[in-house]
Amino acid sequence: MADAGTSARENGFGATLRRDPWWLEILPVAVVLGLFGIYATLRAFEGAYYEWGPYLSPFYSPLIDPQHHWWRFSPALLILGGPLSFRITCYYYRKAYYRAFFLDPAACAVAERKGRRYRGETAFPFILQNVHRYSLYIAIVFLGFLWYDAVRAFSYEGHFRIGVGSLVLLVNVVLLSTYALSCHSLRHLAGGRLDCFSCVSFGRARFSAWRGLTALNERHMLFAWLSLFSVGLADLYVRALACGAIRDVTLL
Ligand code: FES
Repeated sequence: MADAGTSARENGFGATLRRDPWWLEILPVAVVLGLFGIYATLRAFEGAYYEWGPYLSPFYSPLIDPQHHWWRFSPALLILGGPLSFRITCYYYRKAYYRAFFLDPAACAVAERKGRRYRGETAFPFILQNVHRYSLYIAIVFLGFLWYDAVRAFSYEGHFRIGVGSLVLLVNVVLLSTYALSCHSLRHLAGGRLDCFSCVSFGRARFSAWRGLTALNERHMLFAWLSLFSVGLADLYVRALACGAIRDVTLL
C-alpha cells in the first residue's frame, strides 16, 4: 500500500493504482452537498414563507424579530451560524467535503496536489474546525427549540390536530436529534477520556451512556445524511404551504 501511494504521488495529482471507479464515491457527495448549500442559502436570505399555521421552518427556528423592529434582513441570518457551524465542523462532513470539493485527498490511495506543505488542521483557517465540541453545545440548544416547534405543530387554533406537517416536523427533529446524539464529540464527552469507568463517580451511568452513544455513533454518517434531507424537506414543505402551492392534509 505504501508503495502504491508513493508511486501514485510521484505520478502527480489524481494518479492512482486503484482500478475501481473511486470518483463515484465523491460525485454524489459533491452534488447533494452543493445543491443543499445553494438551497439553504437562498432560503436563509429569502426571509419569507417560513411559517404556516403552527408550523415553523427549521431554518428559521428560533424565530427572532420577525417584525423587523431592529433587524432589517431575514431572521434566518441571525441564527444560521449555529446549525451551520455544527455541520461544517462535523468530523464526518469534514471528510466528505475535503474529498468532494477540495480533492484533498480525492480518495484513499489517490495522489494529492504536489508542492504543498501538509499542515492538517493545525493552522488557520482549518484550525477553526476544532470548535466542533462547542458547536455541539449550541446545536443542543437549537434542538430544544426544534422540539418545541414539533410539539407546537400538533396544536391548531387551540385544538389537538395531526397534519402531514406535524409529522414532517416531528420526523425532522427526531433525525436531527439522532444526528447530534451520534456525534463523536458527545461520545467523547461521555467516556472518551476515561481508561476506567468503575474508578470515577457515576461510572456505571457514564458507561451506559457511552455504550448507547457508541451504538448511535456507528451510524453517524447515515444520520448525517438523513437529517440533512429531512431538514431541507421540512423547510420545503412549510414553504410550499406558506406560499399556497399545496394544502396541509389533516390526518386526525
Ligand atoms: S462528529 Fe458529526 S456532528 Fe459531531
